[in-house]
Amino acid sequence: MTDVSGLSIGILGGTGDQGKGLARRFALARHPVLIGSRSAGRAQEAADSIGHGARGAENAVVATEADVVIVAVPYDGHKALLESLRAELAGKIVIDCVNPLGFDKKGAFALPVEEGSAAQQAAAVLPDSRVVAAFHHVSAVVLMDPAVDKVDLDVLVLGEDREATDLVQALAAVIPGVRGVYGGRLRNAAQVEALTANLISINRRYKAHAGIRVTDI
Ligand SMILES: NC(=O)c1ccc[n+]([C@@H]2O[C@H](COP(=O)([O-])OP(=O)(O)OC[C@H]3O[C@@H](n4cnc5c(N)ncnc54)[C@H](OP(=O)(O)O)[C@@H]3O)[C@@H](O)[C@H]2O)c1
Repeated sequence: MTDVSGLSIGILGGTGDQGKGLARRFALARHPVLIGSRSAGRAQEAADSIGHGARGAENAVVATEADVVIVAVPYDGHKALLESLRAELAGKIVIDCVNPLGFDKKGAFALPVEEGSAAQQAAAVLPDSRVVAAFHHVSAVVLMDPAVDKVDLDVLVLGEDREATDLVQALAAVIPGVRGVYGGRLRNAAQVEALTANLISINRRYKAHAGIRVTDI
């Protein structure tokens, strides 16, 4: 497996539930973690709440400084944020975990995305970065729960670049219990993002924080 020890992880929108949850798990695995926000103050507050050496800064600083950058903002702000950080993110592996979902009285549903998926949108906006789609199905609640030592799920990792997907699979595996599984090219990211709507339905019916496991590998 790719050696990811010591890699610093930056999280754009790291002040939200998902960003803080991932930050906490990577910080526990001794990775330097940089939490990004539109506000340096909010970023620092979130970093303080994580502890374990996490630091906070504006998204642009995080995009510049971190070795690997995770995008954890709502789909609404996704394209504009990445467009504004194209130069900072050039040459980097950018991990997109954004699920373009809508919610109505029937529950969650997948939104259409012109580029095909949020991950393909990121790849279109960031031609000089290596975009990898991953971490769509991990529950922020589980990531934040100190009672959960092992997170019971596979993380599907999709991308065009083998070296980048191998690295992200190895990063997923630093979270105890998690396995990173290659899930195909970015053109297949839409259904991975959309599957989150099914998991939300499952969670509501069974009062759970469901994840997925891939068998026979
Ligand atoms: N929550 C989960 O369990 C979960 C699981 C898997 C994947 N995801 C995906 O992860 C992403 C983040 O989820 P979340 O629940 O953490 O979302 P969130 O709390 O609503 O948002 C995360 C952060 O994004 C920033 N943000 C909000 N609107 C923005 C905009 N228009 N432009 C730039 N930044 C903006 C905010 O930070 P500042 O105000 O500090 O800038 C906010 O704290 C989503 O795309 C979601 O689909 C979530």
